[in-house]
Amino acid sequence: MQRIAIVGASLAGLRAAQELRRRGFTGNVRLIGADPELPYDRPPLSKQVLAGEWEPARAMLIDRKALRSDDIEISTGTAVTSLDLGGRRLSTEHESIDYDGLVIATGARPRRLPTATPAGVHELRTLADARSLVADLSDGPQTIVVVGAGFIGAEVAATCRSQGHRVTIVEVAPVPMERAVGAEMGAVMADLHRRHGVDVRLGVAVDQFVGDERVAGVELGDGSTLEADVVVVGIGVVPNTEWLEGSGLVLDNGVVCDATLLAAPGVVAAGDVARWPNLLFDETMRIEHWDNAGDQAAAAARRLLATGAEAQAFTPVPWFWSDQYDRKVQVAGRTNDADEVVVAHGAVDEGRFVALYRRGERLAGAFGMNRPRHVISSRALIAERGSFAEAIDRLTD
Ligand code: NAI
Repeated sequence: MQRIAIVGASLAGLRAAQELRRRGFTGNVRLIGADPELPYDRPPLSKQVLAGEWEPARAMLIDRKALRSDDIEISTGTAVTSLDLGGRRLSTEHESIDYDGLVIATGARPRRLPTATPAGVHELRTLADARSLVADLSDGPQTIVVVGAGFIGAEVAATCRSQGHRVTIVEVAPVPMERAVGAEMGAVMADLHRRHGVDVRLGVAVDQFVGDERVAGVELGDGSTLEADVVVVGIGVVPNTEWLEGSGLVLDNGVVCDATLLAAPGVVAAGDVARWPNLLFDETMRIEHWDNAGDQAAAAARRLLATGAEAQAFTPVPWFWSDQYDRKVQVAGRTNDADEVVVAHGAVDEGRFVALYRRGERLAGAFGMNRPRHVISSRALIAERGSFAEAIDRLTD
């Protein structure tokens, strides 16, 4: 293999490139990304950058000098438009790129409401989005409506509230962050936001925005209207796979891979765009978190270099964290489809506790609030296919 192309120049793309070099690949490594910026980190965008504690430039993951020293060629601001799988060739608007190996790391983009969006309505995914939102919030305390109480919504609400803005969250589901943490812990998160003075409106959708030139309010499905100077919409993401349609790769809410991350001979995928069977949980998943993007990209790069016999299944315990107010929320494993959720350590009222998620006899997931050590030990037990009973025992010691 002489030429490896990596499409998508965010965290996963960059880590794949670096892993290829770390493993001694000496051929051409070309990283191609649609974003005009060099690779940057997204977690600070809804936290330190939004709070004004960091200049956006501090989120950069690498500079041109470091890329050169690793001999990684990069094309930013360049969208790949199609893939010729048989011919091993990519097309952009301006050129064709031949490859021997391909890493797909095109990530995902924010889902949009099907309504007109006047100025002052933001999404938060890219560095450019963060700059524009920070600029809009710079005139002192404002009235903010956050649409969607997933990760973006919950973190933006917490950061903005801590900056003294008036914040209302509008969430269509019955609790915040339900997809990520389940109904029980979602209710805990709703309570946390309310106690910090956020108006949390659940089970209600947005009908449309009020205002022509600039947003002035948000009309809700229950007939009420909320005033707004600024709106932030975080209603989930869609994997970026349109450029792969008709290529022959299997697309189904992401690029479908085998357990080793191979999507086709010579083609692997990683990060928000990759869907693969995680044998540890006997479940096909697509993970939208920072840790997975890096780890999966490194595994995908190794897969590309491996001969068939060396190929290993990628079987991580998914993991994420979220900082909201003075709370560090950390979640390991799977929280969906739980048969039972039990607070096994600490107390919810004190804001320091661990909840465990049971699937059958097994420990499937752990949710910790300000209890990092306990989540780490539960994570190790999940990786060993440990039992729920043992997990409870360990935590109640
Ligand atoms: P998300 O999927 O976490 O949450 C979307 C939320 O919007 C859900 O609660 C959903 O019920 C709600 N929703 C959907 N349609 C709605 C509507 N019409 N009106 C009101 N609510 C609606 O996605 P989110 O928050 O947009 O985050 C985007 C991506 O960024 C995700 O992939 C997430 O994992 C990632 N992220 C991860 C963080 C972390 O790991 N700490 C932090 C920030 C973002």
